[in-house]
Amino acid sequence: MTVKNAAIIVAAGRGQRVGGEIPKQYLNIDGVPILRRTVDVFLQNPDINHTRVIIHPDDRELYDAAVGDMDLPEPVIGGDTRQQSVLNGLEALGKIMPEYVFIHDAARPFLTQDTLNALINEVEISGAVIPALKVTDTIKYMTEDHINNTIDRDFLYRAQTPQAFRYKPIFMAHRRFENNNLTDDSAIAEKGGLKVRIIEGDENNLKITTTDDIRKAEMMTGETYTDVRVGFGVDVHAFEDGDHVILGGVKIAHTKKLKGHSDADVALHAITDAILGAIAKGDIGEHFPPSDDQWKNAGSDLFLKHAAKLVDDADGVIANIDLTIICEEPKIGPHRDLIRDRISEILDLDIERVSVKATTTEKLGFAGEKKGIMAQSVATIRLPE
Ligand code: CTP
Ligand code: MG
Repeated sequence: MTVKNAAIIVAAGRGQRVGGEIPKQYLNIDGVPILRRTVDVFLQNPDINHTRVIIHPDDRELYDAAVGDMDLPEPVIGGDTRQQSVLNGLEALGKIMPEYVFIHDAARPFLTQDTLNALINEVEISGAVIPALKVTDTIKYMTEDHINNTIDRDFLYRAQTPQAFRYKPIFMAHRRFENNNLTDDSAIAEKGGLKVRIIEGDENNLKITTTDDIRKAEMMTGETYTDVRVGFGVDVHAFEDGDHVILGGVKIAHTKKLKGHSDADVALHAITDAILGAIAKGDIGEHFPPSDDQWKNAGSDLFLKHAAKLVDDADGVIANIDLTIICEEPKIGPHRDLIRDRISEILDLDIERVSVKATTTEKLGFAGEKKGIMAQSVATIRLPE
């Protein structure tokens, strides 16, 4: 079978500017490895007949974990420079001799089918084409410590990939200018006298180069959660004879206990109601009626977990919880960190998103008179738009 369009995806770099243990092309963006996203664009295109990845010899395991289950031929081992890696890829295609080759950075996972299709069409006409974007900032030429010149930006473009060429001429040019360490294939084509055309690039087709780009990429793929909700919850329980109270899931020795059907954890009840309030899902009494015997002596972490699950079912995330416990005694201060930890654990929420405060009421009212404890809570929930 003759192959018309073949793709080479260069993934043999070390990603030094991003840093870290794993080369950037194997990092996940919203749960999917960058290389997998990139390869997928080519596998999805019916006009690309062959896709080959060029990898570093140390990365075989990472490669298998990222794309091992995809329909790909054996990867090719790259070289010390991007140019060398491309050349190794072009050599590997020697057996199948495609008509056109599309050379692409693994580090550009956001290539669209529109751009790829535009290149597929244009390369048939002109034989060499790259996507590029016009420079919009004014460009300065620096010498030592001051600007020497302002450059006419009308002639300036930023080159992207994939860069598409007739296979034979680009292969020959790559061989001829081997070891020049040029950073894109168009530069090699230009040196070899090929006339390279431009099509409109895409701002989103960014090359992930720094950790900032990783963050940008996360923002481009992740849920945006722009629908922000706030809920408020209040609960009160009276004291009765006993030797401990349960507050925020923590057992605190005391001369009384809180009266209630469940464990009477006034703090977790307030938070549960705050969360239910934010997603407009009724209140704790509706979900766990005191008349229902199965909740007798139940641990209130169960109620809170249920509220958190309803948030999860709505594809939402909890942004923060703020809790205030209002009582004369017991003193909350010594237990505050434990309570915070426990709430963070029950909700599986970062501790920095959990606030626990306490106040007295200056001996006024039922709390001041040590007849019971009140808790108030606010919850912020973010939902996808
Ligand atoms: N590349 C390659 N072989 C190399 C160098 C780079 O295949 N010897 C690939 C990279 O994996 C990347 C693309 O060429 O997909 C563009 O290069 P760049 O963004 O510079 O990636 P790295 O070289 O990995 O990053 P850095 O320069 O920060 O180390
Ligand atoms: Mg590099």
